[in-house]
Amino acid sequence: MCGIVGYLGENNSIDVILEGLSRLEYRGYDSAGICIIDPQTAGLSSFRETGKLNNLKKVLAGKNLFSRIGIGHTRWATHGAVTADNAHPHSNELLAIVHNGIIENAGQLREELIAQGEKFYSQTDTETFLVLATRYYKQKMDLRWSVQQAFSHIRGNSAFVVMTAKGDEIVAIKRAAPLVCGQNNVNGDFFVSSDPYALVGFAEDIYFPEDEVICHIQKMTSGSMISFHDLEGKESSSFQKKKSELNADVVEKGEFEHFMLKEIFEQPRLIAQWLDFYVNGPGKEDVLKFQEYKSRTIHIVGCGTAWHAGLVIRDFVEHFNRIHTHVELASEFRYRDPLLKEEEIGLFISQSGETADTLAAEELCRENGLQTFSIVNTVGSTLYRNCVGNFLIRAGQEIGVASTKAFTLQVLTGYLCSRVLSKDFEGHNDLVRDEIKREVELLAERIDLFLKDSEGVKNIAQKIQKHKGFIFTGRRRYYPIALEGALKLKEIAYVHAEGFAAGELKHGPIALIDEDIVNIAIVSPELYEKTVSNVEEVKARNGVIVTIGPKNDAPLKEISDFYIPVDFEGLPNLGPLLVNVVNQVLAYYIALFKGTDIDKPRNLAKSVTVE
Ligand code: F6R
Repeated sequence: MCGIVGYLGENNSIDVILEGLSRLEYRGYDSAGICIIDPQTAGLSSFRETGKLNNLKKVLAGKNLFSRIGIGHTRWATHGAVTADNAHPHSNELLAIVHNGIIENAGQLREELIAQGEKFYSQTDTETFLVLATRYYKQKMDLRWSVQQAFSHIRGNSAFVVMTAKGDEIVAIKRAAPLVCGQNNVNGDFFVSSDPYALVGFAEDIYFPEDEVICHIQKMTSGSMISFHDLEGKESSSFQKKKSELNADVVEKGEFEHFMLKEIFEQPRLIAQWLDFYVNGPGKEDVLKFQEYKSRTIHIVGCGTAWHAGLVIRDFVEHFNRIHTHVELASEFRYRDPLLKEEEIGLFISQSGETADTLAAEELCRENGLQTFSIVNTVGSTLYRNCVGNFLIRAGQEIGVASTKAFTLQVLTGYLCSRVLSKDFEGHNDLVRDEIKREVELLAERIDLFLKDSEGVKNIAQKIQKHKGFIFTGRRRYYPIALEGALKLKEIAYVHAEGFAAGELKHGPIALIDEDIVNIAIVSPELYEKTVSNVEEVKARNGVIVTIGPKNDAPLKEISDFYIPVDFEGLPNLGPLLVNVVNQVLAYYIALFKGTDIDKPRNLAKSVTVE
């Protein structure tokens, strides 16, 4: 969840690292730090500030420093409070370290090291690695060997990047945590980062090392070089080298005030591209291979928004295929001793492909002999590499911490998988394919139309933003959309919001209703009367009613305080995705009026790589 950037080259590392960290700040922003070689003392020099990266930038601004090597970090606190002492890099006179992940046996190691006379200056688990590596480094002054030794003592999923006071090498290693290296082919600069996104424009070649492979970047007389080694110190070929697939405009907000809004507006285009890939293009074959697994019970697992996508997908799979489908939160699934059979399949949904609980759930399924598949955005992520098959959602980089476009494409991809598994798809049935195509095209068109004219939703957002609480309701496939709407709103606007199945309100939650509570009621054409009755029940208790319902529905408009018309015509399956975009825009504007930090909401981080 923390962001890591390291650099060794001919330019000023501070500029490169600060730019890289600013791109990764969405992954964690409790504190930020950088370590370089001080031009005056020729020793390690660290700068660490709590709060956003800007605080660190301000401190560095007046200093006029230049260093050809450096490592930097943005933190999302796990062990130890948000203080400058706990911020990374952690350093001493010999080594500096940045870390992403958790050292599970840090407590025990710390006690042992203290008993042996070592001193600790922070409350972090990271410092145990620094102390261990330094002890080894003092023996041989060999960085690669020291990191290798220290790494063998620690348990848990982590990535470490270490530099020495000599200023001529960087060593990086990881276990089940994201880490890449980069190379600029023009000037020979080398980079290391927790995300290739930080390296856009800096590195054309990206190296993806396997777990427990040591990446060694060294400055030689002939220029810098990179090499990879296993834990025995032997040269290793367990890495992949690829051209960076990201282009420069992914790091810009363009005409939008926030990345979240940019990403909401990208949806019609991305859906069209997705369709081209899966229904007309090369993705067709990938998805058809999935037919081989039809009639097997499916366990769908994810966290947060990805779990909500799973709930919608379950409805599709069960409806079209009549096969048992379970949907579970990864954090619960992995600890509840689930009943798993070899003939079943696991389907893991994740934007990042690095969510710790989802990875552990996938591992559990694999260990139990299940075939595992992912619906994932990030090519080369740990989930992507661990599953036997992957369905890429092709959403591009998602920077806003609140997931928007990924959800839409996750559900679409799951929808396609569910149709492919079904009997009526046998023999690549063109009729079914055309039906899917038409509905997806219509969805993109309707989202586009709505986004071009979303002023009405903005006005509603302004009028309801000061209310005490928000209750989202919906039925069937719209129930997960209610959950997702509430999650989006609480994440970015910091207001209390809950999603409920509309029929469930009177079993308890209706006690919450009064004139300070807004009910965002999704009134879908399916189960229309029943859902309208639920709206009436809330209205009778003075709740403020915002309906998202069929267009030209005068009676619905009449009972609503605010009415958002939606054209459901021709969207029998994908209507929930249109409504979800309405909820995304509503949440965005409520947050905008409240003045929160929309792209980087407090306490959150993109990609939750710790349990
Ligand atoms: C909410 C959100 C999170 C993620 C969850 C899973 O807006 O972004 O709830 O959906 O942390 O992340 P991935 O999909 O990366 O596994």
